[in-house]
Amino acid sequence: MAARHPATRGEHVVVLDYGGQYSQLIARRVRECGVFSTLVPHHVGAAEIAERAPSGVILSGGPASVYDTGAPRLDPMLLELGVPVLGICYGMQLMALELGGVVRGAEIGEFGRSQLSVRANGRLLAGTPEEQSCWMSHRDTVFEPPPGCIALASSTASPVAAFESEERQIYGIQFHPEVIHTPYGQQVLSNFLRGICGCEDDWSPRSVIDEQIEAIRSQVGDARAICGLSGGVDSSVAALLVHRAIGERLTCVFVDHGLMRKNEGEQVVAAFRDTFGVPLVAVDASERFLARLKGVTDPEDKRKRIGAEFIRVFEEEASRLQDVRFLVQGTLYSDVIESGGGTGTATIKSHHNVGGLPDDLGFELVEPLRALFKDEVRAVGAELGLPERLVWRQPFPGPGLAIRIVGGEANRERLEILREADAILQEEIRKAGLYRELWQSFCVLPEIRAVGVQGDARTYGNVIVIRAVTSDDAMTADWARLPYDLLEQVASRMINEIRAVGRVALDITSKPPGTIEWE
Ligand code: XMP
Repeated sequence: MAARHPATRGEHVVVLDYGGQYSQLIARRVRECGVFSTLVPHHVGAAEIAERAPSGVILSGGPASVYDTGAPRLDPMLLELGVPVLGICYGMQLMALELGGVVRGAEIGEFGRSQLSVRANGRLLAGTPEEQSCWMSHRDTVFEPPPGCIALASSTASPVAAFESEERQIYGIQFHPEVIHTPYGQQVLSNFLRGICGCEDDWSPRSVIDEQIEAIRSQVGDARAICGLSGGVDSSVAALLVHRAIGERLTCVFVDHGLMRKNEGEQVVAAFRDTFGVPLVAVDASERFLARLKGVTDPEDKRKRIGAEFIRVFEEEASRLQDVRFLVQGTLYSDVIESGGGTGTATIKSHHNVGGLPDDLGFELVEPLRALFKDEVRAVGAELGLPERLVWRQPFPGPGLAIRIVGGEANRERLEILREADAILQEEIRKAGLYRELWQSFCVLPEIRAVGVQGDARTYGNVIVIRAVTSDDAMTADWARLPYDLLEQVASRMINEIRAVGRVALDITSKPPGTIEWE
């Protein structure tokens, strides 16, 4: 058997990404079935996949038509690897076309919920009912399965909505098993992974802990490591894993730039120093950052200054420590996977991490979360005993509150107004039990004033804008429909408790066309 690819260990399935919007979700759902998965761009050849020695291969959906010129193709050798292959949507159509089935562009597309009629369960649809709903998103349709394959099911617009050949180890489904609108989707995936590929249910984010501790020990040896804690879940979990592996030879550095939310700096210090006993250098650098931000109103200038100052402070602290060879980073799988979109060259996802550390500080990198998705990192954090507040913390930009003081200078006074307003919003959202449902929730303080009347006097106060969004990945977002009662409570508390606030507004822009942050 070929050697396992270094990116994988043990039993796993490769998901080939044809650029579909659900490709990452397929990889996550496979892992939820207890089988480790990796996502690779479609143009990676069969030879490389063979080297990884997977237990099965899944071909994702994609936006192209199999008949488009330049549409991504299937490497026929993939079907000769001796492992089962499951094609989903575009992946199914490619397989059908390659093996002599009939695929045609249908006049009517099939988008959204659809009714699946199962004629034969076969191995793929085993244990699922004759009539079931499923989620479709396609225009091309398989009219006849490849010779030797059995058509298992149809839907209103898909004469062949599922097929299989046990002998040739090929399986295809037109519907999307990975989305929640396909109630038997997880069952179908599990049939493929366990019944067909013979995978065991032996992977979980928790199983990563021991394995990563071993890997960190062998990478770091007797050397020392340093980790910049930001207060977010990624760097916290990465630091805890490394601390478990090498103990006191890890030093964490927490730079308080004075642009954090209320009490968040203290919570990080309490968790790491007091609860976990991690050697921690906490630097109060707020004066330095505020001095750098004096008179600066341009958002990109703010970002640049904060980013540069952050690196400077971190380097100063690192240089005080002796013999540090490794830098721990909380890089996630979604930061490193290549996108399968487009037709040829892969694009590495560029990520929005202004205010973090560059990779070229002269340290070797330790990245124990490189194979994990965000929710898996949270599960690892919970298992390691990280406080619930840190495990579930919403993403927070590196430059912090400074980029939420819009069109104006981030000075002590304005930061204080924004921090207090933000604390009220967070408190009320948590009280209403909505915190985890929101991707991000925060306040914006624009450089404008509005007239008001309080008591018998005319006021001219600051305006606080409430921004709350739901999202899966920050690439797109919808404004959150917060209950009116909650909004009323938040607005009234802000105006009553913060003298400088005279008016509260709600941002109801989704992304696109807006962005999540205001600047
Ligand atoms: P936008 O505003 O582009 O934000 O919709 C997308 C995500 O990125 C975060 N964000 C930042 N994160 N440094 C960061 O580390 C930054 O300068 C920065 N700007 C935006 C934002 O909070 C959202 O999660």
